[in-house]
Amino acid sequence: MSYVSAEGLTKTFKGRPPVTVIDGLGLEIEEGEFLVLLGPSGCGKTTTLRCLAGLESPTAGRISLGGRTVFDAANRINRPPDKRSIGMVFQSYALWPHMSVRANIAYPLKARGLKDKIKEGWVEETARLVDCEALLDRHPAQLSGGQQQRVALARGLVARPDLVLFDEPLSNLDARLRDSVRAYLHELHAKLGFTAVFVTHDQSEALALGDRLAIMRAGEIDQFDTPRQVFEKPATEYVADFVGMANRLLFERGADGWTCQGAPVAGAPPAARCSLGASGRLVARLRPEDVHIAPAGEVPGDGMTLLKGRVLESGYGGRHIDATLTLEDRDGAAAGDRLHVRVPLAGPGGWAGELAAGQKVAVGFRPADARFFDDDGEPSAASSDGGARPAPVGA
Ligand SMILES: Nc1ncnc2c1ncn2[C@@H]1O[C@H](COP(=O)(O)OP(=O)(O)O)[C@@H](O)[C@H]1O
Ligand SMILES: [Mg+2]
Repeated sequence: MSYVSAEGLTKTFKGRPPVTVIDGLGLEIEEGEFLVLLGPSGCGKTTTLRCLAGLESPTAGRISLGGRTVFDAANRINRPPDKRSIGMVFQSYALWPHMSVRANIAYPLKARGLKDKIKEGWVEETARLVDCEALLDRHPAQLSGGQQQRVALARGLVARPDLVLFDEPLSNLDARLRDSVRAYLHELHAKLGFTAVFVTHDQSEALALGDRLAIMRAGEIDQFDTPRQVFEKPATEYVADFVGMANRLLFERGADGWTCQGAPVAGAPPAARCSLGASGRLVARLRPEDVHIAPAGEVPGDGMTLLKGRVLESGYGGRHIDATLTLEDRDGAAAGDRLHVRVPLAGPGGWAGELAAGQKVAVGFRPADARFFDDDGEPSAASSDGGARPAPVGA
């Protein structure tokens, strides 16, 4: 049975007009699982966490933790936060500035009537877990950002809660520290085995930490799956965009073959098993790494759908080049949206180190690397796994 179960969770904030921030949300999280809620700012992640913690009362729905109902709108059950065995770690470390590190870490034990655990050494033990033992007698102002966040981690874990909620805890750290605290957190979870809900808007954080990911859009969940499934088979165009498939190519099949945003298409057809929706159009989503380029007149690789492009700009990235291209129509004019390309400089991509603005290039991608969607952002039957829906009427 799942440890966290939320059904039909809805939160409407009063006001004129009232705003529904979460809308019929459902979550099933296994015991010991590390679930990542991934979504852009404002989609309702914090509100969802606050509802789980009991800091916010949902307008409708039901929440149970470890088999016990802690919230049920219909039956007027609403257990207070301190009766839910939950630890919380916030983005703004939220340490008490006037208290020592020791007192900060001990705080949840006091608040929950577990003072005897302080004598049993839980504070020191937890501080040791996050490498903060030497800092126990300092005050938060005497710590670096990374140290403060480790203390906040210790405070979230000290009472050995069954469920720990993390609200973007790494966002305020600089890039290098973020990686090291992230690795810490991964290790701690493996060691302690708590159930976690971790909120972030950062896809690489989500992929690295999550046993499963829930991708949120405007108060609802678009996809709930393993990182690998989400990365390789995003369920909607929204999810595809969110996990790095930044390129959107609109294909159309006419009497004399495929076009892409008005530009002619050569090589492999983008969708071999052609099953276009009623619009007769197909959207391909592609990562910059999966768009390949070659000098004009050459072919970037075998089995590719081929287009012609022109370089708008390119930037050096150490081991790769990031370039922005525009496609060219039959007359050589710019066609459609820009295309983002990442070319590794080792191997055959080496020539791209000398890309110049205005240079013409051959562009290609393997259809298997793309995800295809109908015009409305839903999976298309042209995707390699057949999409999530029955095939629309074939064209
Ligand atoms: N107390 C509140 N009253 C009214 N609107 C709120 C309140 N709290 C959050 N919101 C709104 O709910 C939406 C979702 O907020 P939030 O859950 O903080 O999103 P996220 O954490 O994903 O950025 C936002 O549009 C925000 O303005
Ligand atoms: Mg938030």
